[in-house]
Amino acid sequence: MSYNWIHAEEFSMNSFLLLDRWIIEMICRDYRGWAEFADNLGIALAYNPAVAWYFMHKSPESKTYVDQIIAKAPGNLTADEVRRAEVFVLQAMETSVVYAYPEVMNRNCNYIYDWDKERLLELADFTDKIVLDIGSGTGRLAFAAAEQAKFVYASEPTGSLREYMRDRIKREKISNMVVVDGTAECIPYADNSFDIVMSGHVVGDHYDLELNELARVVKNGGYLIDCIGDDDKHRRPDEELLRRGFEVFYHVSKSGGDIYRYRKQITK
Ligand SMILES: C[S@@+](CC[C@H](N)C(=O)[O-])C[C@H]1O[C@@H](n2cnc3c(N)ncnc32)[C@H](O)[C@@H]1O
Repeated sequence: MSYNWIHAEEFSMNSFLLLDRWIIEMICRDYRGWAEFADNLGIALAYNPAVAWYFMHKSPESKTYVDQIIAKAPGNLTADEVRRAEVFVLQAMETSVVYAYPEVMNRNCNYIYDWDKERLLELADFTDKIVLDIGSGTGRLAFAAAEQAKFVYASEPTGSLREYMRDRIKREKISNMVVVDGTAECIPYADNSFDIVMSGHVVGDHYDLELNELARVVKNGGYLIDCIGDDDKHRRPDEELLRRGFEVFYHVSKSGGDIYRYRKQITK
C-alpha cells in the first residue's frame, strides 16, 4: 500500500544514509518474508556499495542478512534495471524514507498538514503543565502544546527529526521546549515526572509495554493522550485503548476520515 508521501523516482538510495540504526534494523528484519522486496533490496544495495556498507555498520545485527541478499543480486544489470529496484525499495519504505526529509513530511503527510491544533488543545488544559510528547516526528503535537504549556519535552528516536525540531525551536526562539532522544518502550525520565504524556501514531505495536511506560512517567491525576492527525482513512475506534479505559473523542476530518482521539486520567 502506498501513501504517496514521497515520489520515489525523485529520491536516491543515499536517503538511507540519513536514517538511524533502528530503521535500518527494522527494514532488514520486518520484510524478510516478502521475497520481491528482499530481491530488490539486494540489487539496490549491491549496486550502491556505500549504502550497503552503511547498512552493515550502522546495524551490525543486519550484516548477515545484507550479505545474503547482496550475494543473490545478478551482476550484469543495466542502469535502468538497478534504478527500478532502487525505486521499488524507496517506495516500499516511504514511511521511513520520509523521516529523512521533515519538510517533505510536513508537506505531503495529510495527517500533519490537514490537522488543526485545536484538536489537541481541547483534550486537556495545557496551561502551566509539564508535557512529554512521545515520538514527536516533526513536532505536530509538541509545538501546539508549547503555545500553552509551561514546558514541553519532545521525545523522538529519529535523528533527522530531532534536528528539524531543534532548528525550528531556535528559529522561532521557543524557550519552553526541548528535544530529546527516546522511545515509548524506554522513556528516559523518572516516575511521575509529567502532567500530560501525549503521542500520535506511535502507540499500538506493544500496548501493554508502551502504555505502562507512558503511565509510569505521568503524575497522579495526570493525563495520557493519543491524538492522531486528520486524514481520509475510514477506521474504527481502537478497541485496545477502549479496553484499557481510555475515553474516546470522534470527529470527521475535512477529507472525510474517521478520526478518533483518546484520553485517560491516571490515578495512582
Ligand atoms: C507517524 S510518525 C508521527 C509523528 C508525530 N507523533 C505526529 O503525529 O505528527 C511516528 C513517529 O514515531 C517515531 N517512533 C517510531 N518508533 C517509535 C517508538 N518505539 N517510540 C517512540 N517513537 C517512535 C518515529 O520516528 C516517528 O517520528
